Amino acid sequence: MTAVGIDAIEIWTGNLKLDLPGTFAPEKGEDPEKYTKGLGLNASSFPDSYEDIVTMGANAAHRLMERKGLEPDDIGRIDVATESSFDNSKPVSTYVAGCLEGVFDGDFHHANKGERKFACIAGTQSLDDAYNWIRAGRNRGRSALVIATDTALYARGDAGEATQGAGAVAMLISEDPSLVELSTHQGYGSADETDFLKPNQQFPSVDGKRSVQVYLARMREAVEDYESVAGDVHPDDFEFAPFHTPFPGMVRKAAMLAYRHVTRDTAIEDELADEIGRQPRREAFDDEETFHDAVREYMDSLKETDQYREWYDATIDPTLSISREVGNWYTGSVHVARVSALKTALEAGRDLTGETLLVGSYGSGAQAEIHAETIVSGWEDEIAALNVDEQLEARYDLSWEDYEEVHDVHNHEMDVDVEEFTAPESEFVFDGWGRMGERKYRYVE
Ligand code: HMG
Repeated sequence: MTAVGIDAIEIWTGNLKLDLPGTFAPEKGEDPEKYTKGLGLNASSFPDSYEDIVTMGANAAHRLMERKGLEPDDIGRIDVATESSFDNSKPVSTYVAGCLEGVFDGDFHHANKGERKFACIAGTQSLDDAYNWIRAGRNRGRSALVIATDTALYARGDAGEATQGAGAVAMLISEDPSLVELSTHQGYGSADETDFLKPNQQFPSVDGKRSVQVYLARMREAVEDYESVAGDVHPDDFEFAPFHTPFPGMVRKAAMLAYRHVTRDTAIEDELADEIGRQPRREAFDDEETFHDAVREYMDSLKETDQYREWYDATIDPTLSISREVGNWYTGSVHVARVSALKTALEAGRDLTGETLLVGSYGSGAQAEIHAETIVSGWEDEIAALNVDEQLEARYDLSWEDYEEVHDVHNHEMDVDVEEFTAPESEFVFDGWGRMGERKYRYVE
């Protein structure tokens, strides 16, 4: 069977940055370490006044197509995953295609376009759609462009305000990919939940603390479902585990649970038994409460063991390096985590060809999905071609007053005009409104 997977990837960050410990924490009267140590975030990316989900998505896709030497005819499908859409009918992918047609010869008239929605997991669902389209033999030798783009803004004063972010990830899905091959095995954990939603409103209604528990519960179900088709997961089976990262502290919690699960009934549990005892089993307890107390106690001890720390530092921490600097990108977040891990490995000079990633995607509402990917030959060149560090470095550092203005500019209920903070260069920009209320864009050389 021909390999199908991600051939190339590009990241586009919003051009502004909010320093969380330095600018946000003092205004909130909070300890900066709540952000850096508790949530695990240093900064959030924000869109300048001329940026939105279309410009960031089109900019990521433009860079990707140029770098890979692609023409519109090479693309048979464009799917945009977003939960920040501004139109209930016309998909963002049509705007993105319009932008790209302005800079490439040819057009995307024979490409199937759509928009995917299921909170943050929609980016991974779009990958699946592209994979299935190629596997079904309907691609006529062409590739799919999947773009995950969001302006993840919360209402001012919401607890989620500290976890905001804005950026896009563009991925090229092809036969014989040069980055990762997707496996056919998947596991799902899905339930009707009301922890985070946007019922015809721009900013989410969030029950933040519950959303954390829902994330963990659905992720656990997804791992079990994955194991039912792929066999038990063992910590040695995969090099990195990129997970959906609303903030790194969330992944820290998920990693603890995952490690407990995948080491149960293994030699690792046996080795740890002398130091911290064996994992509590439900059947050994009379009621749920005492069982949960015992689990909590076990986890507190597990967290301090050398085995767990070494595994976390090697397998999870490298997936969080970009997220720490950009915040939550919703649909793009798990794909940023994959890039972070591979970038760290490249910088360490590691040879990962043939190694496996265990990818955990999640969307509120709620659904988790687990799948495996194999890193393929060519991954080093693909990751080396990214300019993430330069983009992050070039962001304008917002003052508190600037931040308040920028938030208002992107609030659909407000009509404010604010000077741009950065000068756009070689990128698409928002250029006002058309006669039917459509958004207009232009390319700035
Ligand atoms: P909060 O109440 O502001 O924060 O909201 P907190 O008081 O819970 O503190 C956060 C952490 O910092 C805690 O760590 C504190 O102990 C620690 P924990 O105990 O949980 O490990 N802390 C400190 N650490 C060191 N020094 C200090 C200090 N002070 C506190 N001085 C909350 C946190 C997550 C609720 C909020 O940010 C929120 O509502 N976020 C939005 C929702 C969210 O991100 N949920 C995550 C799961 S759902 C998801 O991922 C889906 C999503 O991406 C959307 C989608 O799918 O579309 C959101």
